[in-house]
Amino acid sequence: MYIDFHAHILPNADHGSDGIPNSLAQLENAARAGISTIVATPHYYARERSVEEFLEKREAAYNELMSNYNGDIKIIKAAEVQISLGIEKLPELPKLCIEGTNYILLEFPNEPWPYWIYDAVTEIARERRLRPICAHIDRYSHIGRDKILNLNMDVQINASAFLDTRRRRNYYLELIGDDAVHLLGSDVHGDGNLSYKDFAYAVKKIGGPLMAEMTNNAKKILAKSENK
Ligand SMILES: [Fe+2]
Repeated sequence: MYIDFHAHILPNADHGSDGIPNSLAQLENAARAGISTIVATPHYYARERSVEEFLEKREAAYNELMSNYNGDIKIIKAAEVQISLGIEKLPELPKLCIEGTNYILLEFPNEPWPYWIYDAVTEIARERRLRPICAHIDRYSHIGRDKILNLNMDVQINASAFLDTRRRRNYYLELIGDDAVHLLGSDVHGDGNLSYKDFAYAVKKIGGPLMAEMTNNAKKILAKSENK
C-alpha cells in the first residue's frame, strides 16, 4: 500500500475539489491505485487569508468529507504553503505543518526566484526549527532544482513526472536512488481519474525497492501524526 504525500482532496478547501462527489471520486481512484494514506495539502497563500481562517476552512472541509466517506484511506491534514515574502516570520507557521509533525510542505513560486527565497527556507529550518519539504521538484527548471537539492531539504516529486521522456525519468530515478528525492505525491486536482492512473504508473516505473524506500520515508515522517 502506498502513501500519497501531496493531494488536493478536501472539498472546497481550495480549487482541488468542488464538493463531496468530487472528493469521493478522488478517494475511489486513490484506493484503486493502492493508496492507503493521503496527506491532504490544500493551498495556503498568505496574501489570501490568515492561518486561522485557513485552518477553520480546512477543518470544516475535513469534517464534511469524514462524515460522507466510508472507505479505508487514512487522511492526514496538512497544507501546501507557498513561499512568499516574510512567510518565515509568520508566527502561526507551525500550525501549517503536517498534523502532529514539524514537517511543512513548501511550494516555490514561479521562477525566476528572488534572492531572499533561499534565506527564507533556511530560516524556516534553522530558526523556526521546522522541517521543510519541497513540493513537486519536477515543476522547477534545472537551475531551481539544483538550488533546492543543495538546500538539503526533504523533497517530494509528482507522479506525473514519470510520464516524461525516458532520459528524464532515469534522472528522477537516480535522484531517488541517491536519497535526494524522498516522497511521491499525486498533486491531484479534479476527479483523480488521470492523476491516480499516473500515480500507479509512477509506482511501476519507480519499482519495488525504490518505492519501498519512498514509502518508508513517508511513514517515518507520518509516524508522529499516526500516533496522535
Ligand atoms: Fe499541489
